[in-house]
Amino acid sequence: MVTIQTWAERVFFGDTLAEKFLDCDLENTPDIEAKKTLWSDPGRPASLQIADRKKRRKLPKPSSLHDKNMRARTLHTFANHELMAIELCAFALLRYPEAPESFRLGVAHILKDEQRHLQLYLDRLEHFGMQLGDLPVNDHFWRCAPLLDAPLKWICAVNLTFEQANLDHAPAYAQYFSSVQDEESAALMRVIAEDEIDHVGFGAAFLNQATLPEEKSFDLYVGNLTFHNSPSRARGREFSEDLRRRAGLDENYIASMKAL
Ligand SMILES: [Fe+2]
Ligand SMILES: [Fe+2]
Repeated sequence: MVTIQTWAERVFFGDTLAEKFLDCDLENTPDIEAKKTLWSDPGRPASLQIADRKKRRKLPKPSSLHDKNMRARTLHTFANHELMAIELCAFALLRYPEAPESFRLGVAHILKDEQRHLQLYLDRLEHFGMQLGDLPVNDHFWRCAPLLDAPLKWICAVNLTFEQANLDHAPAYAQYFSSVQDEESAALMRVIAEDEIDHVGFGAAFLNQATLPEEKSFDLYVGNLTFHNSPSRARGREFSEDLRRRAGLDENYIASMKAL
């Protein structure tokens, strides 16, 4: 029988891109027989194995995006972020069988959004004559994964660090692409930014609920970050207060982030 567990296992351990895109009818798929699985590197096709550090390339500078190759490289990097986001969501479903239904269902919905995002990037890369895997990929988002031993830590890393940062990065890249007349890539970044508000919102709701009356949500967030993450990773150079407010982060939290 297909369960959330088997879906997440196939997405996480599958070594083809097709498995990463595996769909799930969340209304009709039972969430039973979930069992705890600790982190191990996800399955990947041969073309998407993590590259040796020396072979990896830096994200191109925004000032270089008039060059089509630099835009393609940038989009390739972002596509890999989406693939890692898919895998981190599948991992959460495998790692926290005891988490409340609201957490598991929320993560499952985010996983499906990340699959949609990856497809958008793959379609855009095709326009540049590229496929995911044509360039070396890194494991940046995986590094903290073994340390995420509770749902709150997962939320603080994934929703409230990687995705919160995208509330600044995605609109900034929409502007960069637009400034070099690549309106399609700009539109893609705007779609991502809009969805990211929901994803950060999911994390913000969970964090706010876990915050005791005498506590500050920002302190709880910082206290649940793992070795590889710091709050400064959760923001870009341009700080979007408005998108954070729309995500439901509280004023004190936003002010603390802004002051970093
Ligand atoms: Fe995404
Ligand atoms: Fe996301």
